Amino acid sequence: MTAIDTYTYDAGRKPPPFGHALRPFWAFDPGFVNMNHGSYGSLPLPVLLKCQELTLLAERNPTSSTASPIWACSKKSDFARRKRVADVVNAELDEIVLVPNATHGINTVLRNFEWKEGDVIIEATTTYNAVSRTIRSLSDRSAPPRPTPVKTVLTFPMTRAQILDDFRVKIKEVKGADPNVDYSDTPPDATGAQNRKGNKIVAVIDSIISNPGMALPWKELAQICKEEGVWSVIDGAHSIGQELDINLSAAKPDFFISNCHKWFYAKRGCALLYVPKRNQYIIKSSIPTSHAYLSPNDSKPPPADETNFVLQHECRREKGLQVGTSGTGTADQIPYLSIGGAIDFRQWLGGEAVINAYCHQLALDGGKRLAEYLGTKVLDETGEFTLNMTNVQLPLPTESANSEFYTPQARENILRDVTKKLLLDWNVSAGFFVHAGAWWTRCSAQVWNDISDFEYVGKAFKAICGEITEIVEKGGEFPQGIDTR
Ligand SMILES: Cc1ncc(COP(=O)(O)O)c(C=O)c1O
Repeated sequence: MTAIDTYTYDAGRKPPPFGHALRPFWAFDPGFVNMNHGSYGSLPLPVLLKCQELTLLAERNPTSSTASPIWACSKKSDFARRKRVADVVNAELDEIVLVPNATHGINTVLRNFEWKEGDVIIEATTTYNAVSRTIRSLSDRSAPPRPTPVKTVLTFPMTRAQILDDFRVKIKEVKGADPNVDYSDTPPDATGAQNRKGNKIVAVIDSIISNPGMALPWKELAQICKEEGVWSVIDGAHSIGQELDINLSAAKPDFFISNCHKWFYAKRGCALLYVPKRNQYIIKSSIPTSHAYLSPNDSKPPPADETNFVLQHECRREKGLQVGTSGTGTADQIPYLSIGGAIDFRQWLGGEAVINAYCHQLALDGGKRLAEYLGTKVLDETGEFTLNMTNVQLPLPTESANSEFYTPQARENILRDVTKKLLLDWNVSAGFFVHAGAWWTRCSAQVWNDISDFEYVGKAFKAICGEITEIVEKGGEFPQGIDTR
């Protein structure tokens, strides 16, 4: 098979077996070992080719109605791509819109809540930094009202029951902290009844944590939110394409965001934002605000068959609609249009269940092999929090036993040095982070990986960690001799 053959595939023929035989369907440099799919996603060549074709077509006449962003934004094409995603996560069509990334989607939700002084946002110690900083920026506003951030502690190993109990205890703690605050601004209950007068608690919950790469019982956590009258915002950045049975209509979180460009093989710059109809009144404006924003002072009601939430986010220009050529400003629509090609390619590979069965088993087996090779352990020993990412401890002196050495600067130097050595000396990419006072790697298992990739990353880490351990044990000036550019 030549590289050029793999820009397309014959839908009538079976794909090659999972593992290295599938590598030619991605554009990786020869010898590059990619164990870091979870960070940025990786675009399959057939999807990339479709994107190139669409880009060229759009550029042939950027203003014509057949070959332009307008064509890309026709109602039919908008429905088609949203419908396919909505089906995968089992949501209604008009409860899903596309945004550029998870950070954007979470900002859309958090910046649309009407905050009152006394409101609380619950996050976790493991919340993704960009999300945590978003929460912080809301609480840093120069003038009230500002929500107060509160953190639950997630330090693994933990049991499922502990995670759920701690979360409920934290909510009760928040509610009990000041008897004068009345947390009666709660999401609508089953009857649609809602009290919006008091204060609110909003919980931002990862479906799958970034570091460590652990799947949380987010459906149960969202259920606790319902029972406690707390708004749930699920950061599902890693979910679509990795987690089966997302089933939003059954789980009923208040908001859910997931990157299609991570595990789902869409082009970078594509995420889904789910807002059930009962909560769409909260999203008064897309971010940024654009043509389809409705002011309370406008007289024109939205078209009867669509929600304004959808119109604000979608790129349309059709007769009778007062929307411009681009939902949230002029932007490349190709990442959104790549969804169809991504789903087709995934179906050719065998579909969601087949892809994820392979990746999950490889994450379990690969994690075990890597831990054996390094003489360490996997973080999730029972496997109950593992989907397609495994976290393995690295043979580096722990922070708890070397607290004097591990200054913030030393930590940063190690992070930089290891990442660089992995890429430049070993041609491998894998996650690398500190959790519970120890150093870990997060390795993602994908359809192009096999067990030998875990062995290779093990060799790389053994050599690199050996060099760093020597410095730590000598109590040396860490930055000396290490290129920290
Ligand atoms: C848990 C989690 N949330 C949010 C994000 C942000 O995703 P993006 O950079 O695509 O906005 C990431 C990215 O890795 C993540 O892991």
